[in-house]
Amino acid sequence: VVRYAQKANGNLAVLDLVRRAGALVDAVSAGEVHRAIAAGFRPEGDPPPIVYTADIFDSDALEAVAEYGLAVNCGSPDMVTQYAELRARRPSLSDRITLRVNPGFGHGHSRKTNTGGEHSKHGVWHEELPACLALAQRAGLRVTGLHLHIGSGADMEHLALVAGAAARLARQVGPSLAMLSAGGGLPTPYRDDDVEMNVDAYFAVWDGERRRLAEALGHPVRLEIEPGRYLVAESGTLLTEIRAVKRVASHTFYLVDAGFNNLPRPVLYGAYHPMAVVPASGDGRERALHEVVVGGPLCESGDIFTQDAGGLVRAQRLPEARVGEILAIGCAGAYGAAMGSNYNAKPLAGEVLVVRGKPHLVRARQSLDDLIRGESIPVE
Ligand code: LLP
Repeated sequence: VVRYAQKANGNLAVLDLVRRAGALVDAVSAGEVHRAIAAGFRPEGDPPPIVYTADIFDSDALEAVAEYGLAVNCGSPDMVTQYAELRARRPSLSDRITLRVNPGFGHGHSRKTNTGGEHSKHGVWHEELPACLALAQRAGLRVTGLHLHIGSGADMEHLALVAGAAARLARQVGPSLAMLSAGGGLPTPYRDDDVEMNVDAYFAVWDGERRRLAEALGHPVRLEIEPGRYLVAESGTLLTEIRAVKRVASHTFYLVDAGFNNLPRPVLYGAYHPMAVVPASGDGRERALHEVVVGGPLCESGDIFTQDAGGLVRAQRLPEARVGEILAIGCAGAYGAAMGSNYNAKPLAGEVLVVRGKPHLVRARQSLDDLIRGESIPVE
């Protein structure tokens, strides 16, 4: 089962494509549940089309779980207790839950996206699993699955280690176990020399563990994977207009009209994104390449698309460009718009889905009135 991690890009049009391709979805908030349902996912089914997966329930999430009878993947013992309490009030809710476990190690493209090991807030700590299983049993719940997600942008070596850990932990769960989830985290190439992940080899590692487990338990075990970035990163491009070209000491800056309000990955993680200039004239002439620092419009020095993880500017080789030309920032389909904000009162960008060469506006650009909707000035 491919379960799309919609946090990477939850646009309804993307969710609709994912659904029509036969994938299921996860949701980390009541808002993501709302998106999934609006995109046509049914709340209940086997396997569940939507799983609520998080480390906490907030009140909106509990309400959504109760309203739709959603499957839950619990990342903390308190979630188990709170689900049991909810079920006591709503006996129609399933007695089956799955647990997210932190196997004691993690890996991600940045320390901020590593979700395993002793410094991580995510999941039930592996040594606490027996206690959590006992807690679930006392609460009248059956643990039917384990979920492990060690981080985003991990590498094959670390991802493969997780399968063995999952199988060992699954044996502690015992006969009720019917599902293993490998989580997400599959890396995608951002640089020309980044190698593509070998998905077949990765599947073989997990499927091997799944088979052995199914044999030992004497019943089928379902394997799930939960990719976000892998399905959408490379298909998204942020188009932005170059509004100033200036020299500062030895640097050439292109200042564009998109900022970290549109794509925060560089300021958050020093993430690299490939870029290209779309020539206004279309004359097709080769342009000289030079080292350029690309910055946005925000009133903050960190609003730079070309920086390292420590925040130092890191120039990128780009063709000469003029004001008014478009800069295309690639691999922006995952965690770009999804992490967008209204900082500096910038409207969220419009989003266009290109289907077989035909553009469709799938998110209208926010208006200035959208920015102040819901705000009010108290009258004394
Ligand atoms: N499953 C769980 C439980 C997750 O927490 C995540 C991502 C995924 C799946 C999907 O991970 P993916 O396949 O996309 O690596 N903003 C960061 C990434 C944060 C990921 C958060 N959780 C970035 O831009 O790199």
